[in-house]
Amino acid sequence: MLKSGGVVQHDPEDASEVEKLVAENGKLNYRINIMKRTASKSDPNGMVNILGKLEELFDSAIKKAFPDIKDFQVVVVSTTPNFGDYQFNGAMSLSKLLKTLGKSLNPREVAAAVQKCVPPNEVIETLDLAGPGFINIKLKASFVQEQLSLLVTRGIRPPCGVEKKRVMVDFSSPNIAKEMHVGHLRSTIIGDSICRLLEFLGHDVLRINHVGDWGTQFGMLLAHLEDRFPNFAEETPPIGDLQSFYKESKIRFDSDADFKKRAYACVVKLQSHDPVYIKGWQAICDVSRREFQKIYDRLDIKIKERGESFYQDLMKKTVMLLEEAGVLKEDEGRKVMFAPGIAVPLTIVKSDGGYTYDTSDMAAIRQRVHDEAADWVVYVVDLGQSGHFETIFACAEFAGWLDRKKTRVEHVGFGVVLGEDRKKFKSRSSETVRLVDLLDEGLRRAKEKLIEKERDKVLTPEELESAQQAVAYGCIKYSDLAHNRNGDYVFSFDKMLEDKGNTAVYLLYAYTRIRSIARTANVTDEQIKKAAADGIPLSHEKEMKLAKLLLRFPETIVRLTFDLCLHPLCEFLYEVSTTFTEFYDVCYCVEKDRTTGQIVHINMDRMALCEATANVMAQCFSLLGLKPIQKM
Ligand code: ARG
Repeated sequence: MLKSGGVVQHDPEDASEVEKLVAENGKLNYRINIMKRTASKSDPNGMVNILGKLEELFDSAIKKAFPDIKDFQVVVVSTTPNFGDYQFNGAMSLSKLLKTLGKSLNPREVAAAVQKCVPPNEVIETLDLAGPGFINIKLKASFVQEQLSLLVTRGIRPPCGVEKKRVMVDFSSPNIAKEMHVGHLRSTIIGDSICRLLEFLGHDVLRINHVGDWGTQFGMLLAHLEDRFPNFAEETPPIGDLQSFYKESKIRFDSDADFKKRAYACVVKLQSHDPVYIKGWQAICDVSRREFQKIYDRLDIKIKERGESFYQDLMKKTVMLLEEAGVLKEDEGRKVMFAPGIAVPLTIVKSDGGYTYDTSDMAAIRQRVHDEAADWVVYVVDLGQSGHFETIFACAEFAGWLDRKKTRVEHVGFGVVLGEDRKKFKSRSSETVRLVDLLDEGLRRAKEKLIEKERDKVLTPEELESAQQAVAYGCIKYSDLAHNRNGDYVFSFDKMLEDKGNTAVYLLYAYTRIRSIARTANVTDEQIKKAAADGIPLSHEKEMKLAKLLLRFPETIVRLTFDLCLHPLCEFLYEVSTTFTEFYDVCYCVEKDRTTGQIVHINMDRMALCEATANVMAQCFSLLGLKPIQKM
């Protein structure tokens, strides 16, 4: 909060390591508390978040066993089948905590005490103490059977217990008159998937395209427009190639002093909302907008444009408020704002009186938190801008516009895209890669791949085309999402189009194969649902293993919201498909007569398991923005 008077500056060096850790821990606790709060509200029709449920059970066990311990964050993890299904391994830290309270119990004794206090429930079969104090948890078979049967009869539903939030996701956000580059592609893919996830969880999501559509570059563009298309106010100027238009105007701006002067005059006219110049500005924006839209349509991205220009009037107000609060400092004619503990300030007003990227983001955060009453604001922008967002958030807090205990704001960053040579991603002519060309190449390569696999011999031309698109756009999205977004990422069509390993091609094939099992056996949806409703025994160990994994879908997606990293969803999806293969290799679903090839027996329970697998996979694809197809 802002104290009266000016900015209190802290030297970052002063903050001791301990303080930093305490702050870090506070943040983690805050996040976990949000999750805890959401877990407590249950929605009777949603899927059960098993891990969440276990954490609740252990939470009450710990409260009962050790009433003196407050605010202990229970964490349960899933584990390998040798140890059970899940594991509680908090006994060590509990034992340390107890020591600080003057109670001496070793972790094994702590674990034993917790184990005794777990309330009766329908989820857990056994709790086993192991090693120095682990508790291995095995799920009840009847619970797994029942949940799996619900999964098939009801279909995939959002997990229960998620508290609805109003979330604004700022993503994609290219700049007008400039080409959308691979960085914007990453933001578009990651941002869209985050929105899909949050929408599925039931949040109220606003997808915002914060396009760079305001600023001094419009001066030179408008001055050039005056010369090239003098009657632009009456007739829409046929600009055609905005890239070269931009380059031409830039050359003139850099070399012609008169032109430069006129460019400045144009900015002034635009900013004073002269209708003629507004028209010209709109015409220029429209050309870019149409280009961006082509990309969004191809990738099936929905987004609402609310660019920097949207905040024009708010920027004035922003500056006024900051001025009144006394937090702006003069610096060589500029007005800057420092945040506590951050060395580099924001530039709020330039020396010529103009506003900056910083000003628009200060206006935007205030608008989002204040006017839109967002509970959660997400910025999907490359990691190069971490400093910018850190400062924006800190300044907004300092100005008293943002309380991070109430509003979750976060920068979801991502690394740069590299070529296969591990250098900056460039095209052969060493220019930056145009996104349209990239998508076209994806289509071309996908077709090659399909023909190589002789799919053109079995698919109709229409089927082949949808397969081509699903593979091309699917592999571009998937290879981006499957990598930890915090790292740099090497763009390689060869890698992403491989049909083995954790790739879109492998997964899309696996999915169509599973779907075709029921189709070729002529089994209907109704028959499968009926079989599931009658109960699925899961008597084979591989059936049980697959079922338990499928039931981890809700906890997996809830956990994604902790840090908005999406690669664990890809790992889960891949694990589902390999675990399915393990099951399918040893468990017959459809038995055929060896000589005639006629179907002699259909195991309907296993058909239900196939159906459940395909449904889970389809939902994962949908969250990742991939379009699975029936035939491939
Ligand atoms: N247009 C900016 C760029 O290309 C990204 C904007 C991100 N959003 C924001 N609120 N700053 O770098």
